[in-house]
Amino acid sequence: MTNDLNSRKPLRFCDLQKEYSLCAQEILDVLSDPIRKADFCNGEQVRLFEQEFAAYHALAYSSGVGSGTDALFLAMKSLGVGEGDEVIVPSNSFVSTALAVYYNRATPVFCDCTADTWELDPKSAERCITPRTKAIVPVHLYGQSCDMDRIRALAECHDLTVIEDCAQAHGALYKGKKVGTMSDAACFSFYPTKNLGAIGDAGAVITPHSYIKERVDRLRNLSLDKRTGDHTEIGYNMRMDSLQAAVLRHKLPNIDGVIARRTQIAMTYLREIRNPHVVPQTVGEGCGPVWNLFCVYVSDRNRFLRHMEDRQIFCGIHYAVPCHLQGAFRYLGYSRGDLPNCESLAEHCVTLPLFPDMDDTDLQRVIEACNQFTQ
Ligand SMILES: Cc1ncc(COP(=O)(O)O)c(C=O)c1O
Repeated sequence: MTNDLNSRKPLRFCDLQKEYSLCAQEILDVLSDPIRKADFCNGEQVRLFEQEFAAYHALAYSSGVGSGTDALFLAMKSLGVGEGDEVIVPSNSFVSTALAVYYNRATPVFCDCTADTWELDPKSAERCITPRTKAIVPVHLYGQSCDMDRIRALAECHDLTVIEDCAQAHGALYKGKKVGTMSDAACFSFYPTKNLGAIGDAGAVITPHSYIKERVDRLRNLSLDKRTGDHTEIGYNMRMDSLQAAVLRHKLPNIDGVIARRTQIAMTYLREIRNPHVVPQTVGEGCGPVWNLFCVYVSDRNRFLRHMEDRQIFCGIHYAVPCHLQGAFRYLGYSRGDLPNCESLAEHCVTLPLFPDMDDTDLQRVIEACNQFTQ
């Protein structure tokens, strides 16, 4: 290890400080309108953001909510997921997808991912179907679409509801269609690290159906009927903050620019990382990924992480424990070996630095470090 490598500045897999140091004043300006109007919860900015976010997807409806987890919970509830139901979710995902099923008193049933795209495997999902299966939730993980043709065909054949989890995939394409437009309801997170990120928690449900929009809107606001003052059913405080909506409205017009820069970085990685021990995610047929996370499979993860850290490059892991083996879901009785592709990925995946403000010098630094890695 030369001093030169050690003296470089630390590079993380996502650098929000850099993003906000470049746009802090702009964001403060954007916040001044809702603050001056004392418009804080579920207000005018939220209404406007909902219209603009629905229009971005060429869909009729969008509901702003408190987080991506809230969006999943409310979308499932609005589509009738409840006690006694089973919902198929990929085990290779963030835990929220399965938690939302649990919150609805239903049972998450975990399926495996494919060995190459690492997205939900429709064949594995088919094996999970029982007479109790109500819905399936394709998660467009890392920013890449699932195989929606096969998932929709499966759903049609078995009369399942499809709810898309687009938390990592704003703007991603599948055969020319935006993710989130191929199901009855789709859920988004605007957690700060997402491709469209707020300055705190926020989420949305988008849908072509007015009845889903109405139900989500009511449930998120404690099921209050403003005309009568009646809380018509058990509701939840899952409203979106107007301040978050104002920031999201400011960022939305540039989302395609963000996706273009992320794609440029990802394409450079795909072209220039030439090491058989560092294998990237395969892009599925017809997919236009937006590269929220750039994941690679390495045979010896601890050695790879040490190798990168020696060069002041700090990678991420998404995710170290597949959902079916998480402590939270121990009660379901899964064991190691049940979903081999997810388990292998959990042991070997690494997320390389990728964010729009990453400069070309840092990009080359990561490529060089990957290419220098030996088994
Ligand atoms: C795939 C996926 N689903 C759901 C969520 C939950 O979103 P939130 O953190 O906004 O609740 C996330 C957040 O990271 C996610 O990555």
